Amino acid sequence: MEIINRIPRMRSVTEKLRRDKRKVGFVPTMGALHDGHLSLIRRARAMSDIVVVSIFVNPIQFGRGEDFDAYPRDLARDAELISTRGVDYLFAPNIDEVYPEDFSTYVLVEELGEKLCGVSRPGHFRGVTTVVMKLFNIIKPQFSFFGQKDAQQVTMIKRMVHDLCVDTEVVICPIIRESDGLAMSSRNAYLNAEERKAALVLSRAHKQAKALYADGEKEATKIITAMRQIIENEPMARIDYVAIVDNQTLEPISIIEETKPVLIPLAVYVNRVRLIDNITLNTPILDDENESSFF
Ligand code: PAJ
Repeated sequence: MEIINRIPRMRSVTEKLRRDKRKVGFVPTMGALHDGHLSLIRRARAMSDIVVVSIFVNPIQFGRGEDFDAYPRDLARDAELISTRGVDYLFAPNIDEVYPEDFSTYVLVEELGEKLCGVSRPGHFRGVTTVVMKLFNIIKPQFSFFGQKDAQQVTMIKRMVHDLCVDTEVVICPIIRESDGLAMSSRNAYLNAEERKAALVLSRAHKQAKALYADGEKEATKIITAMRQIIENEPMARIDYVAIVDNQTLEPISIIEETKPVLIPLAVYVNRVRLIDNITLNTPILDDENESSFF
């Protein structure tokens, strides 16, 4: 595995791979890698000739007062972890090179980015789409791999790729969970033991939603109310949002129809740590793959 820090070096590798007609699979990350990230890398390895992983804690997707400075960074540990997983290139550019002083161009997916997480994190998705577009331009991957864990991010990247005719196939990978149901996240490292326990209300709420739906409940407000009750019973938890939305438009749904893919995303603060999770209904592939032993 070659570690690349400079954009020109990454570009020249990319150019050669394209000339040689090698299929490049790309996994963008912010590091602090865990089994969720590794599952994306495994999928990339299975589908591509060459696997590129990026690690870049992207400052422009963090709001003021968010955890940019505190975000866990350990490049040596991450590099070691993935060096035995069939990764060919680890791209870890410097902030100054990604965002030079005169940087002034952004990619904005309108509307979608203002919903759900966009309400409490204004500007977040503009930061995500801008850096991902930039990475796509540098790496020019045939396939790019994203986790369903960040469902809104997935929806927005797909929309950006479609709207701007980006030449990459977006591959969505299921959510990897701890055995007790908590979705893996780099931010779980912020939780102390008590908060870690309290964080289980997220997956418990989703379990309840699934059970109600399986019992024939189709009214979104009833399901949301039941989910909110579970979360509100946990003193350390504070709801940012719980929603039932159309998977593509992220618009709220009032009655769940069996034929329509539905996303049930939520964001909850456990004390000061903001966690997100989601489940899908009526999306056979994702539902099955996300059906970890927990649900
Ligand atoms: P990061 O949070 O590091 O996540 C990198 C990728 O790993 C994302 O596609 C995310 O959805 C996926 N992932 C995280 N936890 C997962 C889990 N438990 N199961 C499956 N996949 C999981 O998302 C970002 O970084 C950034 O916004 C980025 C796209 C790199 C742009 O800066």
